[in-house]
Amino acid sequence: MSISTITVIGGGTMGNGIAHVAAQSGFMVTLVDVSEAATERAIKTITTNLERQVKKETITAEQMAEVLGRISTATDLEKGATGADLVIEAASERLEIKRQIFATLDRVCKPEAILASNTSSISITELAGGTSRADKFIGMHFFNPVPVMKLCEIIRGLATSDETYATIKSMAETMGKVPVEVQDYPGFISNRILMPMINEAVYCVMEGIASVEDIDTVMKLGMAHPMGPLTLADFIGLDVCLSIMEVLHTGLGDSKYRPCPLLRKMVAAGHLGRKTGKGFYSY
Ligand code: CAA
Repeated sequence: MSISTITVIGGGTMGNGIAHVAAQSGFMVTLVDVSEAATERAIKTITTNLERQVKKETITAEQMAEVLGRISTATDLEKGATGADLVIEAASERLEIKRQIFATLDRVCKPEAILASNTSSISITELAGGTSRADKFIGMHFFNPVPVMKLCEIIRGLATSDETYATIKSMAETMGKVPVEVQDYPGFISNRILMPMINEAVYCVMEGIASVEDIDTVMKLGMAHPMGPLTLADFIGLDVCLSIMEVLHTGLGDSKYRPCPLLRKMVAAGHLGRKTGKGFYSY
């Protein structure tokens, strides 16, 4: 099936990045969020990020206007999704919310439309099971900042068809991403490896092995990571890190995935990283 119109659900960090890159790749995009204030915020962020590209001369001002011209917004999920060939859901990382969204999408979208989730940790097979089109359901996991990061993990649920996978792989390539095929197991590849590293860095802080800054310096200068694990944890959100560790621990049942008590304590204190102004660093 060929994709030309995409609906993105959620205008937050991931959703606005996905809408930006999809529109820049020539797709017609409808961005859906719960309120006009939220869709306006998303368009403002996309505009700022496009302006950054114009300033760097990677695109022209005319191209920026064309990209923005390909994005429309909606606050009504049903109206925003009916005409879509593909819907990419990037709403909050809560099973119940995603289930409700996909039940509605399954009802209103055309039968051949593909439903995708940008979830970083919820089972694609489980989300697909709540719809009548598990063969046309797939995971498209992008990375923050979406306009910069080249990877897209493509997660196959138990019933995802080869045709759906091939369509989405080619669509990710059209968006300038490098797709990686992943089977549906907790954390997929990225978070199965990344989160235990971050969790271990938090253990190093808790055990007083080194300072926050020095732990980050080791991974930046010793392993050439662009950000140290604790800076990255603040960037992702400590609540998100904790929730993914819980998914790994529950889903894989191995004690090596137990979340660090200091991570739990910081989340309980509301020190969630950049978004609350305080995490391992102050912002
Ligand atoms: N939108 C568009 N462009 C952006 C951007 C954004 N939000 N943020 C940065 N950029 C661009 C900049 O314009 C700049 O472009 P040029 O190379 O053309 O100059 C480039 O990205 C680098 O940015 P900066 O110079 O401002 O800063 P930097 O060199 O420190 O890079 C960074 C910033 C790209 C975020 C880099 O620090 C990095 O790669 N960090 C690691 C990010 C990471 O690991 N992300 C994955 C998180 S995990 C996840 O998303 C999924 C999950 O499931 C948890």
